[in-house]
Amino acid sequence: MSLQTLVAEPWSDYALLDSGDARKLERYGRYRFIRPEPQAMWPPHAPDWDADAEFLPASDEEGGGRWQFANDIPPDGWPLAWQDVRFQAQCTPFRHLAFFPDMAPHWAWMRERIAPGSEALNLFGYTGVGSLALAAKGAAVTHVDASKKSVEAARANAVLSGLADKPIRWLVDDAAKFAAREVRRGRRYDGIVLDPPKFGRGPAKELWQLETGLPGLIADCAKLLDTESRFLVLTVYAVRMSALAIGELLAQATAHLGGEVELGEMAVREEARGLLLPTAIFARWSRRK
Ligand SMILES: C[S@@+](CC[C@H](N)C(=O)[O-])C[C@H]1O[C@@H](n2cnc3c(N)ncnc32)[C@H](O)[C@@H]1O
Repeated sequence: MSLQTLVAEPWSDYALLDSGDARKLERYGRYRFIRPEPQAMWPPHAPDWDADAEFLPASDEEGGGRWQFANDIPPDGWPLAWQDVRFQAQCTPFRHLAFFPDMAPHWAWMRERIAPGSEALNLFGYTGVGSLALAAKGAAVTHVDASKKSVEAARANAVLSGLADKPIRWLVDDAAKFAAREVRRGRRYDGIVLDPPKFGRGPAKELWQLETGLPGLIADCAKLLDTESRFLVLTVYAVRMSALAIGELLAQATAHLGGEVELGEMAVREEARGLLLPTAIFARWSRRK
């Protein structure tokens, strides 16, 4: 298994403009934001950054902090696009902007592999950009997230994208429980994408912990694929876990299906110098027809 770097290039509504000194400057449509970025260990390209808002991390608590606004930003968000998918960006208390731009290469890769009428499953689907990218290609999508608010945001994004009438099942459910239930029902999918957090709770407070939950969930996902299926995409953020480890996990779980497993790091290209800022790790299985 060889490591790859999957690079998100800037597009009209998103760019990593500059990075350095443990911060990054990004453009989301017409607004610019500064956010903490511990991996940007180099000096920035430009000495001064002009931004509409900055996320100031709390000093006492990991993950906490608040936005400081230099200019007015619509509090309910503003519309952005990735290819034919439209969605709302918003400043969230979790320091991100309500979607993950580094997922774009996976969205494009899945779209190359999904055929109209295929069945796709998006676990931990959040605000639904991945689900909509697949639905726009004619797939029937099952979107699962524990948060009612996230599912509502995803549905609103479907309306914004003109995809409200597409066959998308929007489910507020625990991802692991749902996958296990689908296995018992004998269901199958053509493609599965999952972006599990390190820690989470299902709607009935079911505990999700990546290190302990992932092997069982991947085993269930593999049971939901068959010899006609095309892909399984797994992404993992901000944990002490190697791409090799999740690659091996996927390779073993999908061994009976044939096909191939790729793995590596995900990164966003900085516009100023072309350097790569790492964001996450991934492993993905696929089979050509
Ligand atoms: C934001 S995405 C993942 C992002 C990325 N992996 C990260 O951690 O930065 C996480 C999504 O998983 C959902 N989630 C958390 N625990 C869950 C569970 N047990 N079942 C289903 N969805 C869950 C959250 O509601 C959220 O929308």
